[in-house]
Amino acid sequence: MTQATLVYDGKEFPLEVIEGTEGERAIDVQKLRAQTGLVTFDPAYGNTGSCKSAITFIDGEKGILRYRGYPIDEVATRARFTEVCWMLIYGRRPELQELKDFREKLTRHTLIHEDMKKFYEGYPAGAHPMAIMAAMFSALQTFYPDDGDVDQNIVRVLAKSKTLAAFAYKKSIGQPFIYPKNDLSWPANFLRMMFAVPAEEYEVPREVEDALNLLLILHADHEQNCSTSTMRMVGSSEANLFASISAAICALWGPRHGGANEQVINMLEQIQASGSNCQKFIDEVKDGKSGIKLMGFGHRVYKNFDPRSRVLKDAADRILGKLGINDPMLELAKKIEETALSDEYFVKRKLYPNVDFYSGIIYRAMGIPSSMFTVMFVLGRLPGWIAQWKEQRDEEGGYRIHRPRQIYVGETLRPFEDLNTKNL
Ligand code: SDX
Repeated sequence: MTQATLVYDGKEFPLEVIEGTEGERAIDVQKLRAQTGLVTFDPAYGNTGSCKSAITFIDGEKGILRYRGYPIDEVATRARFTEVCWMLIYGRRPELQELKDFREKLTRHTLIHEDMKKFYEGYPAGAHPMAIMAAMFSALQTFYPDDGDVDQNIVRVLAKSKTLAAFAYKKSIGQPFIYPKNDLSWPANFLRMMFAVPAEEYEVPREVEDALNLLLILHADHEQNCSTSTMRMVGSSEANLFASISAAICALWGPRHGGANEQVINMLEQIQASGSNCQKFIDEVKDGKSGIKLMGFGHRVYKNFDPRSRVLKDAADRILGKLGINDPMLELAKKIEETALSDEYFVKRKLYPNVDFYSGIIYRAMGIPSSMFTVMFVLGRLPGWIAQWKEQRDEEGGYRIHRPRQIYVGETLRPFEDLNTKNL
């Protein structure tokens, strides 16, 4: 067993060093406080491993991302989303019959209870779809009280997520809800519920269906990011799957996390409106006075490049070309990337495009409004959230509630004087 030694207060404390299958090492500090009275201090957990996981591996220095050991570029270009869902959640690629059964279940559970539609009537027209999604996932528990059948609830979540999302979009544009069609794939079913209207049939273009399939897979998991850590933390109290997902959706919504994809398009539109002067915008970001960030850039883990961003940049060219769309936003995004990557400020801080930088341009080309971009991130990330939540639940020897410690820096002991305020 590899050890580290902590020398503190004139004594030596041996600490075990654990190693993962990819050679990552960590000091096991589970007994540190009992042995030394010390806790570790690591705000934002930048240097803290919260769990052991076999689902996703990231090497930030080398720009590596693998799902269950498979490289992301191969999975994203060779698999269908429903197979990736099963693989992330159950730990291996499904046999053909397992996949067929899973797809059949997802198809059969796409409808939501008719009473759930009444919730949508209560939302104001301009309600942000992420607020609706967080509320609707929590509400799912009222229709499916936690009967302990985790696999059934996993099917319900993955099947109904596309319906809840499409209904949120239809609500926002005042159009009637479109019901699912059972002979369509997961991505095609969602796109039809988004864009069909009752008056006419809607044929989902294959290139749009394939583009969505790619985007969903690229977003499917990303180890212990903010929203997945939220999913694990909420799940650690034995909260049910629906409630845990609702919490993860709220965490993802923030502009530093999944909300960035919506902010990237807003940022590009602002740059375009002010004359598309990329250097001027980059200079504003660098001087820091305005507090603006280059949205879609930077990452806590990737310090070389985000492999998903590379796949998405190529896909944006290909998909817009196939759809015959010439979106100036794409050229502007490439110009911004080129300007930033040749600027010392970004190079020194190892800031590269992340998954959010190009994804919005593809969603736009598919006709999806920017208010729905983070909802698209939810739909892709659901299998990852579920897989991580389930991995924790299935841990050998059980799992503990997450309860970090702190360093108290407030007032020390002082008397609470009786100022005879009780009768006020
Ligand atoms: C996702 O964790 C995951 O895996 C997330 C994700 C997933 O799949 O789940 O990959 C999805 O959330 C991607 C990130 C999307 N967010 C954005 O694009 C928002 C813009 N990016 C930043 O807010 C930032 O880069 C973060 C939040 C992504 C990372 O923040 P960190 O790791 O806390 O880095 P930091 O804020 O400490 O930055 C270090 C330096 C700072 O400058 P100095 O104080 O050293 O002078 O880099 C600067 C920051 O000001 N910086 C940026 C910047 N990001 C960091 N400066 C300008 N523009 C940026 N985007």
